Amino acid sequence: MSIRNWIAGAGLLLLSACSSGEQGFEEEALRYCDNQVRRTLAELKEVGGGSIDYTMMPRNIADSLTVWHCRKAVKEEWCSGFWPGILWYDYEVTGDEAIRQEAEKFTESLEFLSHTPAYDHDLGFLVFCSYGNGYRLTHNPAYKQVILDTADSLATLYRPVVGTILSWPRNVGMFGGHNTIMDNMINLEMLMWASKNGGDPSLADIAISHADKTMRHQFREDYTSYHVAVYDTLTGDFIKGVTHQGYADSTMWARGQAWAIYGYTMMYRETGLTRYLDFAQKVTDVYLQRLPEDYVPYWDFDAPGIPDAPRDASAAAIVASALLELAGYVQGEKGAGYKEAAIKMLQSLSSEAYQSRTSKPSFLLHSTGHWPCHSEVDASIIYADYYYIEALLRLKALNGK
Ligand code: GLY
Repeated sequence: MSIRNWIAGAGLLLLSACSSGEQGFEEEALRYCDNQVRRTLAELKEVGGGSIDYTMMPRNIADSLTVWHCRKAVKEEWCSGFWPGILWYDYEVTGDEAIRQEAEKFTESLEFLSHTPAYDHDLGFLVFCSYGNGYRLTHNPAYKQVILDTADSLATLYRPVVGTILSWPRNVGMFGGHNTIMDNMINLEMLMWASKNGGDPSLADIAISHADKTMRHQFREDYTSYHVAVYDTLTGDFIKGVTHQGYADSTMWARGQAWAIYGYTMMYRETGLTRYLDFAQKVTDVYLQRLPEDYVPYWDFDAPGIPDAPRDASAAAIVASALLELAGYVQGEKGAGYKEAAIKMLQSLSSEAYQSRTSKPSFLLHSTGHWPCHSEVDASIIYADYYYIEALLRLKALNGK
């Protein structure tokens, strides 16, 4: 079936689901998220013997466990920005000053990143999800300075001869060259923001160069992505596309494709360049075409053991959020189809099959972090929760509530 027909068909199914009483489910889901946030805060307080250690960030809950595994906010820990970001989103939903105070305390324990030499590309995830949302909601000038300083730090990883950011300096030897990973697309948002908000305007040139070179080399002919592109450190020439967290070099790792969908949609918003809008649709369409019935992908689209392979709810949450934005840029039936697909993803994630509900304080179950390393397989993972609440907020805004 062509993607146009597929999306139109999906749209009809969804419209009938919505008309059977599921409209407005996002309000209930946001109330659920607020309840889980309060459970997590209570748990963190209890674990701390009555006070919270604001440098310890919820990271994951293994399938067999019920309590958050927290990690210290150090430069090597890439996920520390998501929990503060969730608190900011929950504050946006509830307006509760107590949640805002918790958001501030967790956010501010990441301040050190703005004056620490860049460890790797994850600075955008770390600082834009936390300080970025905090600044968007409070306009605290100190937060703005942290973002600007961190953007400058991230830019130190840019290599002009290649034209992209070196994502993992520690892995140059392992991959045999300058490495750029698909996840890095998300960190470009902080560079674009800084370039427009008092930072060096050339930060936007870095982001555009990175997005363009990634577009040229990090996708196969069918628009599925390689997790990692390896470039010659001296000449900048593309050497190879490989995987790190996916199943094989030739397969579509679900979250990698999700980062591409989100990243090119965001780059279109930030630059207005239609090549990004066209590309965002191409990388989206191949993802949508191959989804299973419940719209939540297997962790890799060619994972061994499908249909019993683990899912990746985090990819579904990232894509749902991205498609709610992309739908606003694409006219007609196709744009409507993207919105309807995003709603279907969120409805699936909001069902008892994917919500943690009373079993644990996370929002979602069934994400897969790093299957080849047997790490965070079929678990609750903090970034799934971050993009889930972000997507619910976007849907609420689209529905005019
Ligand atoms: N950025 C690492 C991941 O998506 O797992």
